[in-house]
Amino acid sequence: MISIVIPTYKEAASIQEVIRRSGEALSQSGEEYELIVVDDNSGDGTAELAEKLSREFHVRVLRRTGRMGLATAVVDGWKLAQGDLLGVIDADLQHPPEILAALATALRQSKADLAVASRYIAGGGTSDWVFSRRVISSGATHMAASVLPLKLSAVSDPMSGMFVVRADAIAGVELTPLGYKILLEVIAKGRIEHAVEVPYQFEERTQGSSKLGPRQYAEYVAHLVHLAFVTGQFRAWLAYSLVGITGAVLDIGLIYLMAVRGGGSVFWTVPVAVEVALLWNFLWNQNATFAHRHGSGRAEADGASRLWRYQKVCLPGAILNIGLTLLLASQGVRLVLAAAIGVFFDGAVNLLFNVPSIWKIWGPKTSTSRNPLADK
Ligand code: GDD
Ligand code: MN
Repeated sequence: MISIVIPTYKEAASIQEVIRRSGEALSQSGEEYELIVVDDNSGDGTAELAEKLSREFHVRVLRRTGRMGLATAVVDGWKLAQGDLLGVIDADLQHPPEILAALATALRQSKADLAVASRYIAGGGTSDWVFSRRVISSGATHMAASVLPLKLSAVSDPMSGMFVVRADAIAGVELTPLGYKILLEVIAKGRIEHAVEVPYQFEERTQGSSKLGPRQYAEYVAHLVHLAFVTGQFRAWLAYSLVGITGAVLDIGLIYLMAVRGGGSVFWTVPVAVEVALLWNFLWNQNATFAHRHGSGRAEADGASRLWRYQKVCLPGAILNIGLTLLLASQGVRLVLAAAIGVFFDGAVNLLFNVPSIWKIWGPKTSTSRNPLADK
């Protein structure tokens, strides 16, 4: 059986159509289903309208006393659920309910633990979003990818609010999400080894209004910080940054020895120092930061291909570093200071932009199939 939670806050205009279309789509797919509306005391009749449909569809309503957040509504709904598949869909018709049937089928026909409705694979999309919303959305996605680089690399739309997970994968897991992003919580804490994605079009809202505001953005950041700690990502960042600091000291020291003391030209000493420090960082990351990720066998071949990928990912930062050091030095800045400034920006670029790609070098654990139904 599949249990779908529909979180609602003032969705009287659309709740009945969501229930109808979800119920019909799921029964047609041959899946036993239940719908659980979790309403936060909307006061506009949302809960009553949902209850009215309980004779026609398998739907019931959990009423909470006040607005307590989208993600916790989902968790509370799942606590009542009977299904071996647990899902969620918005109540405002921005998520086409018919996709629920595709998500259920995707899980029934595969061993995947999670099926995500995605805007970012072939066949998916969003209606025309304004530039600012696009920037916020991709910034938020990048932040999440930096906090959960391995787990999220397998899912193209980790912000999705429509997905279905096997109850087994989260049984016994304590879900304590904050704000909107229940999927992040599930991916971070659940036992997800394989995910599938199904494309969908995120529709424009035609009724009611979005409940996403400044408070939800703040909760999002707090939620990511919490996940950084519980998943061990914070410790991994720390190790990675410590390695980076030793590399920086090495870079500056080498430039001092070769150029300032040894009189070598900056045009070769600076690039050489940067590359030696890069190799040094790679070795420490390989043997310390990511030591627990080494697969068995083929260690050397893996090491070589990792080094190659590491070089490519780090190239922009290294070029910035070398360019900045040479530029500042040519303007009369003391070489050691110029090198320190260069290496600082190099590290900042890597930490801000490259965490997902650097973590990926040491291998994702979770795998994904894109759009499994289109393959058939
Ligand atoms: N029970 C309850 N409590 N429901 C809530 C609350 C709450 O505090 N806040 C929002 N909801 C319900 C809304 O009634 C709606 O059914 C659903 O959660 C999504 O809320 P919207 O306000 O419409 O969200 P959105 O359209 O801005 O964001 C959606 O799209 C994102 C992708 O861009 C959500 O689905 C996000 O989860 C999704 O990531
Ligand atoms: Mn919405």
